[in-house]
Amino acid sequence: MELLKIAFSKGRILEESLELFQKIQMNLEEISESSRRLFFDFEDYGLRIILAKPSDVSTYVEHGVADVGIAGKDILLENKNEVFELLDLNIGKCRMVVAAPSDMPEGAPIYRVATSYPNIAEEHFIKQGFPVEIIKLHGSVELGPILGLSDAIVDIVSTGMTLKKNNLKIVEEICPISSRLIANQVSFRIKSDMILSLMEKLNKIA
Ligand code: PRP
Repeated sequence: MELLKIAFSKGRILEESLELFQKIQMNLEEISESSRRLFFDFEDYGLRIILAKPSDVSTYVEHGVADVGIAGKDILLENKNEVFELLDLNIGKCRMVVAAPSDMPEGAPIYRVATSYPNIAEEHFIKQGFPVEIIKLHGSVELGPILGLSDAIVDIVSTGMTLKKNNLKIVEEICPISSRLIANQVSFRIKSDMILSLMEKLNKIA
């Protein structure tokens, strides 16, 4: 039987993704990041699970090496891959925000922004009518204002702990974020039975 290939995001969303599948009677407990294995076959469920870096999930799905995937809306907005967005899974909830040093006066101008989301940041500031210089970082972007690299950051915030610990405050909310079920556009047609059945089950509990 041909397996439905699903790309899961490694890291914080993985646990929530496994719980979601547990709720639809698919026990994927065998999956663990610490095992260092990057794919797991579950013949009984007709699934191959691929563990991908969160920012790469939509790339694997666009190229069809994964039929479906669980990807954060942040990644979808940033990468703009050609995939179908099927369902809001209501996991991995957080917010995309602009943050700046806690002591920055209200309305102070922002010239430079550090972020791992250059496209989202650029579009946001262009919409506001003032283009800024975007400095792309691959993580720990909170260091930007601390080290004087940037005036502000654009990043995701979940508990707010990282901002607080680094003396930053939210100055603007850009949009809410959650994880989505996405599909390759060809797989969606040729494996429609499998994908629609999965989507229906997840839709009932998401
Ligand atoms: C994300 C994000 C923030 C942090 C926010 O980073 O970039 O740094 O989580 O979470 P909080 O509001 O609950 O503190 P992540 O841990 O994914 O790693 P990164 O800094 O390498 O991107």
